[in-house]
Amino acid sequence: MRVVLFTGKGGVGKTTVAAATAVRAAAAGGRTLVMSTDPAHSLADSFEVEIGSHPTEIAENLWAQQIDAQDRLEDNWREIQDYMTQVMNWAGVETIQAEELTVIPGLDEIFALIDVRTHVESGRYDMLIVDCAPTAETLRLLSLPEIMSWYIERIFPVERRVVKTIRPIVSKMTTLPIAGDAVFGAVERLHRNLEAVKKILTDERTSSVRLVVNPEKMVISEARRTYTYLGLFGYRVDAVVVNRVLPDEITDPYFGKWKDIQAEHLATVRESFEPVPILTARLFDREMVGVTLLEEMGTEVYGDLDATDVLYQDEPIRVRKRGTGYVLSIRLPFVSRDDMDIHRKGDELFIRVGSYKRNLILPQTLKRMAVREATFAGDRLEILFAREPKPAAERGRS
Ligand SMILES: Nc1ncnc2c1ncn2[C@@H]1O[C@H](COP(=O)(O)OP(=O)(O)O)[C@@H](O)[C@H]1O
Ligand SMILES: [Mg+2]
Repeated sequence: MRVVLFTGKGGVGKTTVAAATAVRAAAAGGRTLVMSTDPAHSLADSFEVEIGSHPTEIAENLWAQQIDAQDRLEDNWREIQDYMTQVMNWAGVETIQAEELTVIPGLDEIFALIDVRTHVESGRYDMLIVDCAPTAETLRLLSLPEIMSWYIERIFPVERRVVKTIRPIVSKMTTLPIAGDAVFGAVERLHRNLEAVKKILTDERTSSVRLVVNPEKMVISEARRTYTYLGLFGYRVDAVVVNRVLPDEITDPYFGKWKDIQAEHLATVRESFEPVPILTARLFDREMVGVTLLEEMGTEVYGDLDATDVLYQDEPIRVRKRGTGYVLSIRLPFVSRDDMDIHRKGDELFIRVGSYKRNLILPQTLKRMAVREATFAGDRLEILFAREPKPAAERGRS
């Protein structure tokens, strides 16, 4: 099973490239599902067919799905939300207002990702293609499983224990609604789902992200930032697709200047992302909609490549032995040491880059070691771990 996510700035051609990839994968014989998590669904426009909120067969070996975020929210959040609403009602908040307050922004999209787990585990497809929302939302989406798991792991086990002991007492003293087993059950289910999704999306054999860009300055700047953050969260990028490149046969002087500008930006893309493969697609002379044109687009993008392959073995995070210690290295290109903070607390490493924070649970081998230094080597941040020197008293004895 392969999972490939497409993201990039709004309007660069994510949906088109995702759809073209799906058509190509299906034509090669693999059972392919393309789904969109972007609330601005446009897969249906791209294929020129109706697409439901469940996988709809649209061609041989090809299914498509536009996830209804509201449905998923109902399925996964209802019990938790009901409880939160009760608590707020108890505190005097009107029901309508309480219901609004208990839906965390962006939560609906995260539930769309739970479908990734469902589809991977069903074994029904060989290839799952995800047409994601524009960059910022996608990043938030991809960092959410970890952040939510972090809270759930810390808050709920404690709360559950406390509730068991205090429920009989509290219910005699006040009317405060106390979370029942259904609420805890819902929280646990959500936690398991998010953990499973994160595991799938960071698995090198299964998942890759493909960044779609246009040869334009702002689009490329945004893609560079995305690439950094994807590294921070351990997601693997296996290709960059440069879409809407002016073809050579255009000789009209009006576009001459544009061609020069694009050539310059293409060079920037190569410098920024190589050795990640850079794929290109020209600006076609029409909108690329419908299976036939999408097939043409797929050929343009992939040439002789198999779109379902892992096109590049990226290693966003790795641990290597160095001397008597270890180096934890994270791919963080385009970042300077001043734009980031690192600190350690117990078995966790907190890394902040720009406005994104990661709490990295240290692997077993590193837990008993101390952080010695953090420096950049090329585009990787290297954090050096060494054994703690033994206290002087002990050293004398051994
Ligand atoms: N290489 C291309 N040549 C011509 N038209 C394109 C090309 N790539 C995308 N388009 C058209 O541009 C529009 C926007 O593309 P879309 O894939 O919906 O962007 P996004 O999903 O990034 O918002 C669509 O009408 C699509 O058909
Ligand atoms: Mg789109």
